[in-house]
Amino acid sequence: MNKKFDQTTIVNYLKNYGFVFASSEIYGGLANAWDYGPLGVALKNNIKNLWWKHFITSQPNMVGLDSSIILNPAVWKASGHLANFSDPLIDCKACHQRFRADKLIEEKYPDIKINENTNKEELLKIIRDKKIVCPNCGKSDWTDIRSFNLMFKTYQSVIEDKSSEVYLRPETAQGIFINFANIQRALRLKVPFGVGQIGKAFRNEITPGNFIFRTREFEQMEIEFFNYPDQAPAKFEQYLKDIEHFLFNVLNLKKENIRLQEHAKEDLSHYSARTVDFQYNFPHGWAELWGLANRTDFDLSNHEKMSKSTLGYLDPETNKRFIPYVVEPSVGVERLFYAIICDNYKIEEIKENETREVLSLPYALCPYKVAVLPLSNKLNDDARKVFDKLIAQSIPCVYDTTGSIGKRYRRQDAIGTYYCITYDFDSQKDNCVTIRNRDTMKQERIEISKIFDFLCK
Ligand code: GAP
Repeated sequence: MNKKFDQTTIVNYLKNYGFVFASSEIYGGLANAWDYGPLGVALKNNIKNLWWKHFITSQPNMVGLDSSIILNPAVWKASGHLANFSDPLIDCKACHQRFRADKLIEEKYPDIKINENTNKEELLKIIRDKKIVCPNCGKSDWTDIRSFNLMFKTYQSVIEDKSSEVYLRPETAQGIFINFANIQRALRLKVPFGVGQIGKAFRNEITPGNFIFRTREFEQMEIEFFNYPDQAPAKFEQYLKDIEHFLFNVLNLKKENIRLQEHAKEDLSHYSARTVDFQYNFPHGWAELWGLANRTDFDLSNHEKMSKSTLGYLDPETNKRFIPYVVEPSVGVERLFYAIICDNYKIEEIKENETREVLSLPYALCPYKVAVLPLSNKLNDDARKVFDKLIAQSIPCVYDTTGSIGKRYRRQDAIGTYYCITYDFDSQKDNCVTIRNRDTMKQERIEISKIFDFLCK
């Protein structure tokens, strides 16, 4: 089992190697906002591409969508987000720090059961009865609890008044629901079918934190799968298996770092008949990575009522109209990114008193598949030709000339580059290079003309 690293070690590692930087750093940063550097964006894109391939293009009944971030505000009324998508906010009167009341209780008293239906008065009573103190200043002098809606509000058009209020979407899902009829008709799809979408979502979280785990701007990969109502439970079971397969066999995450958590009935969101979370053992502890929910006909029914459009599906067999039941797997790109880094970053002892940092990513996730390393600067012209050829064949590849060959191997190991190709003085004579595997560190000699086939095997 890998050593578990703390959050600071992971944050520093990702910064030093160009994966993730604190956003707006030269201006002192912006709390809980992060920028993805050249290696970070490459890893993120690889995650998204694998997800899209696995859940959309390799499935017979799946299609994609890219809907707007800003939607008609009526969408959020129908979906329940305007009324329900809020957290209980409490202020410490002594130091003016703000907290989520439910989290304050959960952190101190994990055995006290709090759920979606626990109201503000009940939460305040617990905080006062238990004399819970402010984690910042240690006093117990609290305001009343207010509901704080997590949606970011802005204005569309030049006039900033109620009529121009709009929201940044807090989930990509609603863009799919409001396009259900368009997609079904335009593509002549038969239920059951599903629609997948990758895109940014925004939540004005009261307590963001734990690095990229909870941020105010993040990316979701969501599927809304439309079923006959009685098929939804079986589809739910199938997605449980599909997600597991993706996590363990495609992303190669370790089984001991993932566990399932079934939500109790009283903990379900306002739209869900069943929810199971895949949790990951992050540096700050077990927490939600990926959610799977049976959203029933909640969203389509509400949009049908609110918009007065027909959003049902006419069963071609029975000629009866019904509202499909939706099964929704939903995961944040950044949480998967974080889990993948935690799972694969290690410090390996290779000899007595000698260690190396390795990011042991599966080939498909590596930001660079190959590094081309000339043994000496005198070999630059010929080594560069090998690199140029690989780039022209769209192999993500890096050319590195700085430092000793040993140091260059270490740097490539640390960023997860799968192979290092060394061009040496013999290469000029025999047209061969040495190719070194990141994990085994074994080296073999291979003809330059066969590198592409070797990488694609
Ligand atoms: N459409 C359903 C939905 O949005 P959710 O459980 O609120 O459900 C789904 O979010 C996933 O989005 C989570 O499992 C998590 O991976 C990711 N996510 C949610 N809030 C996030 C945040 N503030 N920062 C980063 N990722 C977040």
